[in-house]
Amino acid sequence: MTTKTAKLTLPDGKEVTLPVVVGTENEHAVDIRALRGESGYITLDSGYMNTGATTSAITYLDGEQGILRYRGYSIEDLAEKSDFVEVSYLLINGKLPTVEERQKFSTQLTRHSLIHEDMHHFFAGYPPTSHPMAVLSAMVTSMSAYYPDSLDRNSAIDLHITRLLSKVRTIAAFAYKKSIGQPLIYPKNSLKYCANFLHMMFAVPSEDYTVPPILEKALNQLLILHADHEQNCSTSTVRMVGSSGANVYAAIASGILALWGPLHGGANQAVIEMLESIKKEGGDAKRFVDDVKNKRGGNRLMGFGHRVYKNYDPRAKILKKMCDDVLQQLGINDPMLDIAKGLEEIALKDDYFISKKLYPNVDFYSGILYRAMGIPTDMFTVMFALGRMPGWIAHWKEMVEDKDTKIGRPRQIYTGPTPRAYAPITERTA
Ligand code: ACO
Repeated sequence: MTTKTAKLTLPDGKEVTLPVVVGTENEHAVDIRALRGESGYITLDSGYMNTGATTSAITYLDGEQGILRYRGYSIEDLAEKSDFVEVSYLLINGKLPTVEERQKFSTQLTRHSLIHEDMHHFFAGYPPTSHPMAVLSAMVTSMSAYYPDSLDRNSAIDLHITRLLSKVRTIAAFAYKKSIGQPLIYPKNSLKYCANFLHMMFAVPSEDYTVPPILEKALNQLLILHADHEQNCSTSTVRMVGSSGANVYAAIASGILALWGPLHGGANQAVIEMLESIKKEGGDAKRFVDDVKNKRGGNRLMGFGHRVYKNYDPRAKILKKMCDDVLQQLGINDPMLDIAKGLEEIALKDDYFISKKLYPNVDFYSGILYRAMGIPTDMFTVMFALGRMPGWIAHWKEMVEDKDTKIGRPRQIYTGPTPRAYAPITERTA
């Protein structure tokens, strides 16, 4: 924080002095909280492109430099040296765990992996064609019905956090099993977090299944890369819903729904659909890029561009390498990877993409990896939700523990009709 100020001169010549806030990485903001009270003016910022909704100590992101850090640790270090459970602990608690803290956290996650048996009836009620994001969000909302103490703001936050982190993986795997008509596979306490999820996804009761270590490692890395991304659309939604005092399950479920959109977490599914359609039409990446540039067919290059990154997304860099490693180790030759690399090469040399600073984002390569792991396309966004869970929880927790939190309630500039007389229906003209 600082003693610096900024001055705003309004059309009537009135000057308003506003405090300047500086973050630990030297980011500057004009604090406009007193602006309306002092001047009657509000700020207008569609899409919140210039609006800081909060201060936060969780994630630092520099889109110009392509830097991403969770609680001060670089994403590159965490993806290489850590695992998803440890990173979840870090995001939620602000520090890396000691051996004892890690042990306790893992044990809690293991103990809370089952879902209430009655919730199994819900899975039976959905048609097999249901999108698993619909099932996941509804199930997470339903958890507040099974744990009604969550409606009390003073209830045990740590317990709800553990339940969410642990059960969401069981729900996701059950939604998949239901969609393919296979029996549900219960969690297995001897397995670690990611291996347990993969076991629930791919095991069947009729034969033994051992989780391939390469898949467990890849999943850990994928989930770490998705674990937080500061004030994105879904995280802001979690904070907004949570600011009303709604319970944590409701707030997280709303984040899942915000993530579903193709401009956000749904982009990983959209990337594969785009690559498939390019392949179907002969694999001409150049023609597709030309169509995108000339806005023919209304297509964007999915998996490219980002509201904040105006440089190569550091997560995409890690994923591109992972894609090569995992596909090679699994002996998979996926033509989608060649098309994706071809698209990237063309786009990165093209003036349209260079001038608009459009680079591959986290979703450009993640779908190819998920395919190689045997995860079906409509589960991709669910995988993103699994990864983002600790980030959403960390932001929800930070918000409820911040004494300055107020209910989220933006203002607007009204552009509709001015007052007019009400006419009886028989006197109205078309
Ligand atoms: N392909 C082609 N052109 C693009 C793309 C793209 N992927 N992204 C942006 N542009 C163009 C727009 O057409 C626009 O051009 P114009 O100025 O000529 O109209 C310009 O770049 C700016 O685009 P905006 O939509 O205004 O940028 P914004 O910051 O609002 O959007 C977004 C960011 C939504 C991510 C956008 O880049 C996009 O739609 N990308 C494809 C979807 C995607 O990959 N989403 C995942 C994002 S990462 C995540 O959420 C995990």
